[in-house]
Amino acid sequence: MKRAIYPGSFDPVTFGHLDVIERSLKITDELIVGVLQNSSKNPLFSVEERVTMLKEATSHIPHVRVEAFDGLLVDFAVKSEATTIVRGLRAITDFEYELQMSQINTALNHDVDTVFLTTRLQYAYLSSSIVKEVALMGGDISKFVPENVMKRVYEKFKLKERV
Ligand code: PNS
Repeated sequence: MKRAIYPGSFDPVTFGHLDVIERSLKITDELIVGVLQNSSKNPLFSVEERVTMLKEATSHIPHVRVEAFDGLLVDFAVKSEATTIVRGLRAITDFEYELQMSQINTALNHDVDTVFLTTRLQYAYLSSSIVKEVALMGGDISKFVPENVMKRVYEKFKLKERV
C-alpha cells in the first residue's frame, strides 16, 4: 500500500490545499496530512485548531488522516511509514524554496522522495496569508476556504457580523 504525506502549516487550510489533497489520492492509497506544530511562522491558529479544521474539511474524503507533527519532516515520514512527500506548486516563485526543501529532505533520508502537484489555475493566487489578510480587513473569504474555516477565521478576528 502506498502512503504519502502532505505537510504544511495549514494556517488555515484553503480550497487550494483541499484540491491538492483530493488529487494526491490519485497517486497514493493513503494520505497523511501533517500539520507542523512548532512553526516559526507564529500561526494564527493553534495546532489543535488547525488539525480540527482540516479534519472537518476532509471528513468526506476517504483514505485521508490528519496528524500534527513536530521535528523533522523526514522523521515524521519514517514514523508514518511513508516514502513520498506531496507539495503543491502555485507559481515559479514557490519553486526555489520547494526545490531546496525537497533536496534537504532527500539528503537527510534517501528513501524519501517529494512529488509536486501544480496548483489548479483557479487557486494559483491563493495562500493562507492572503486569506487572513482579506478577513482581517473584513473581506469575503467564502471563495477561498470552506465554511467551517471561514467561521473560525472571522471569530478569531472578532468579525462576528460576518459569521
Ligand atoms: O505550509 P508551509 O509552511 O509552507 O510548510 C512548510 C513545512 C511544514 C513543509 C516545512 O516547514 C517542514 O517540513 N518543516 C519541518 C521541519 C523540517 O523537516 N525542516 C527541514 C526541511 S525544510
